[in-house]
Amino acid sequence: MTVLYSGIGELVTNDPSQGDGSALGIISDAAIVVDGDRIAWIGPGANAPEADESVDFGESSVIPGFVDSHAHLVFAGERSAEFAARMSGQAYAAGGIATTVAATREASNRTLAGGVARLANELVRGGVTTFETKSGYGLTVADESRSLQVASQFTTETTYLGAHVVPKEFHENRDAYVDLVTGPMLEACAPLARWIDVFCDKGAFDVDESRTILKAGVAAGLIPRLHAGQLGPGAGIQLAVELEAASVDHCTYASDDDLEALAGAADTTVATLLPGAEFSTRARWPDARRFFEAGATVALATDCNPGSSYTTSMSFCIAVAVRDMNFTPAQALWSATRGGAAALRRHDVGVLAEGRRADFVRLDAPSYVHLAYRPGVPLVGDVVSGGRLLTHRS
Ligand code: NIG
Ligand code: FE
Repeated sequence: MTVLYSGIGELVTNDPSQGDGSALGIISDAAIVVDGDRIAWIGPGANAPEADESVDFGESSVIPGFVDSHAHLVFAGERSAEFAARMSGQAYAAGGIATTVAATREASNRTLAGGVARLANELVRGGVTTFETKSGYGLTVADESRSLQVASQFTTETTYLGAHVVPKEFHENRDAYVDLVTGPMLEACAPLARWIDVFCDKGAFDVDESRTILKAGVAAGLIPRLHAGQLGPGAGIQLAVELEAASVDHCTYASDDDLEALAGAADTTVATLLPGAEFSTRARWPDARRFFEAGATVALATDCNPGSSYTTSMSFCIAVAVRDMNFTPAQALWSATRGGAAALRRHDVGVLAEGRRADFVRLDAPSYVHLAYRPGVPLVGDVVSGGRLLTHRS
């Protein structure tokens, strides 16, 4: 069955061969025809072919569904007391992860799946049509593998993050934990994951440990991505480039050399900025202009997790990225859609074109700029995900 979506006042395609020829490929007065889960036709409304059904979008702006390339959704409990302490002046440290690890180990699979379902529902309601999620709050063979089993019920973009922090039972023997992560834990988790990630930062894993872990993951068939440069400068960003990781995430403390390395790897390694983390930890803001001027490929993601960024709202991340990280509204939207798709090496999402997945969002606004211009306002109207119209407005 085909469906014609007409009355699109402004259509952001992210296809520069369309419309205004900008990176966002904006077509005015546009229409989309969906056939099953794919886009069958896209272009000016006046040229639209007939379809079995039609939906009038009443002159709204339509954008590609957001692609959230970085989230930690499998966990139990919450850490609002830690957040309140931070807002009263305490610093963020990687150690807080242990609190969530303890709660996650105690939780049943049903509780964990219920938590992911709740957050996945928030993501979709907020216009996210593709999302990644990580393990990393289990840190035993059994708890990491069941975390990935739970994650796999909700997304194909699953990431093994056994190397989130060294759990307390291994504090006196880090090497033994690295052996576990690269040995039996990897063996149990590799069949359940597409990606391997390491938190390479102060209080987590150093560069040599990270290299060892990522290489073991690659040997087991996983594709690397990395957390680096969140809590301070270091060699993690360059390690990601060296290992041809799909993305290196946070990059808050990226140096000029790091930016040069990222620019040289723009077709391979995406720099993913996570405004929710700077916001919720009162960290310094990375300046996105440096990344764009250098020529890096940039993604924006929520980093949804109970410690450093407990938000599922990509609209919020875009508003903060524009206001505090010097993204232009156009760069922020591109990074939250096509940039996220690049970070997940996905060609079927992040762009609206014939043959791509029919994942798009109708905003209750005439322009995508309103995502930053009207911060905190629920502008996501209708979400079409894999061709299915999920209407959130009555
Ligand atoms: O991406 N940086 C490492 N991991 C998470 C924080 C996890 C936590 O505090 O629970 C992040 O910000
Ligand atoms: Fe993270």
